[in-house]
Amino acid sequence: MTTRNMTIPVAPGDGIGPEITDATVRILKAADPTLEFVYTTVGMKAYENGIAAGVGEDTWQAIRDHGVLLKGPITTPQGGGYKSVNVTLRKTLGLYANMRPCISYHPYVKSIHPGMDLVIIRENEEDTYAGIEHRQSDEVYQCLKLITRPGCERIIRYAFEYARSHNRKKITCMSKDNIMKITDGLFHDVFDEIRQEYPDIESNHMIIDIGAARIASRPYDFDVVVTTNLYGDIVSDIAAEVSGSIGLAGSLNLGAGAAMFEAVHGSAPDIAGRDIANPSGLLMSAIMMLVHIGKADVANTIQNAWLRTIEDGYHTRDMFTSELSKDLLGTQGFADHVVERLGRQPLNLKHTDFQNNELSQLPEYKPSVENRAKKHCVGVDLFLNWEGESRDPEALAALLQEAATGTSFALKMITNRGVKVYPDGNPETLKTDHWRCRFPAQIDDDISLEIPRLMEKVNQMGLDIVKTENLYTFDGEAGYSKAQGEG
Ligand code: NAI
Repeated sequence: MTTRNMTIPVAPGDGIGPEITDATVRILKAADPTLEFVYTTVGMKAYENGIAAGVGEDTWQAIRDHGVLLKGPITTPQGGGYKSVNVTLRKTLGLYANMRPCISYHPYVKSIHPGMDLVIIRENEEDTYAGIEHRQSDEVYQCLKLITRPGCERIIRYAFEYARSHNRKKITCMSKDNIMKITDGLFHDVFDEIRQEYPDIESNHMIIDIGAARIASRPYDFDVVVTTNLYGDIVSDIAAEVSGSIGLAGSLNLGAGAAMFEAVHGSAPDIAGRDIANPSGLLMSAIMMLVHIGKADVANTIQNAWLRTIEDGYHTRDMFTSELSKDLLGTQGFADHVVERLGRQPLNLKHTDFQNNELSQLPEYKPSVENRAKKHCVGVDLFLNWEGESRDPEALAALLQEAATGTSFALKMITNRGVKVYPDGNPETLKTDHWRCRFPAQIDDDISLEIPRLMEKVNQMGLDIVKTENLYTFDGEAGYSKAQGEG
C-alpha cells in the first residue's frame, strides 16, 4: 500500500509548469495550511544538472518516502534528444492505470458539448510508448508496438472496477484490431473475456478511428473509454479540448506502490512565462491527489471553490468568451479568486462528493490464462537491407533460394513494407531497401536451433540481415501475421 503522510512532493516541470504549480500549491496551502510540500527536480532542470534520465534522485526519494508526486508538464524534445521523463516516471514506478476525466462546465465555459462527462482510461506503460525504435537501413525506421496479456488484463479490469465503483454504466473499448489483429486483437480479446464478469455494465468495442471521431462529435455516447497507450493519449486530448479547453483536464497515474498526478496538457512553451495559462488541469489533478492521500474534505472544498469561480465568470484566456465571462484573469489572478471562494459552494454546477481513497483502488491482478501455450518454432522471417539488381524481388529470391538449399527452410515469400512482392508481386508496389523474407521450416521438428545456419548461408551470399523474427505457433495457432496480398 502507498505510504501516506501529508508531505507532498512537487515537481514543477517546464514551460508553464512552474506558474501553474505555484498557483495550484497556493490554493492547496490556503485550503489546508497543514499540508507541506517538498520541491523536486524533473525535466529541463534535471538535464541541466547532468541527469540524462531527467528525473533527479531527490524526486525518486520523495516518491519512495511519500508515495505520490504532483507533477507539472515536462518539455520532451521532438525527434531526437532526451527520452520522455513522463514515460520514464510512469514505467519505472509501474503506474499502469491512467485515468482522465473530461467534463464540460456548461453554461459557464463554452463547450460544443454541454453535459459532456466521460472518463478515458488509458494503459500507461506499453504499446509504442515502450520507445523501442531502430533505424534498419538508409530508408527504413521501425518502432516496436508491445502489447502484453498482463498489461491488457490489468488495465481492462481496472476500467471495469472503476466503472462499477463510480456508478458508471458503460465501457467502450477502442482498438485497431481490424489492422493490428495480433496486438490490438489481444486487447479486444481480453476486453471480451473480462466483460463477461461484469454483466451489470454495458460494454462495446469500437475501432479507434471512428471512436475518436465520435468522442469529438457525440461524446454523450460514451461513459468510460478504455484503450491502449497511444490511442488513449490522443483521445484524451480530443475529449479534454471539446469539453471546453485542454487546460481543464487533470489525470491520475496509478500503480501499486505510487501515484502521480499531472494535467493532461503539456508544457505549452508558446504561452510560458506570460501568466496566461490555466492552472485548472493541474488543480484538478491535485484534487484527485488529495482524495488519494485521505484528504477528501480538502479536495471537496477546493473543488467547490473552483466551480464557484467558474460560475462567477472569472476565467483564464482559454476559457474566456465575452458573452459568458465576467473577467479575464491571469494564472495567479485566477488562483486568487479560487482562494477567495474557499468555503463557498457552486450554485449550479454539479460537484463530486469525493470520499477518501475512492481513487486508490487497484484490482488484484490474477492472470486469466494459467496454462502456458505449447510454443513451436515453424520458421523465420529474415529482414534484409538490400539494394541490389534494381531492387528486383525475383533477383533477391534467386539468391535466397540458393542460400536455403541444404537447410531445413525454403523461401515462401518476400514483402516490402508488409506488402508481398514475391512471388507474384505488383510492379506498382514501392520497393524500399528493406525486405522481409519468410522461410517456413520444411520439417516438423522445432528448428529454432537451425536458424543461425540459414543466417550464415544468407550472409555468405553477401546479404545484410538487419533483424530476425522467429515464427511460432502457440497451441497450433500461428503467432505471426500474414503479408498484405498473401492468400
Ligand atoms: P501542449 O498541451 O503543451 O499545448 C497545446 C496547446 O494548448 C498550446 O496552444 C498551448 O498554449 C495550449 N495549452 C496547453 N495547456 C494550457 C493551459 N494550461 N492553459 C492554456 N492553454 C494551454 O502540447 P504541445 O505544444 O504539443 O507540447 C508542448 C510540450 O509539452 C512538448 O515538449 C511535449 O512533449 C510536452 N508534453 C508534456 C506532457 C506532460 O508532461 N505530461 C503531456 C503532453 C505534452
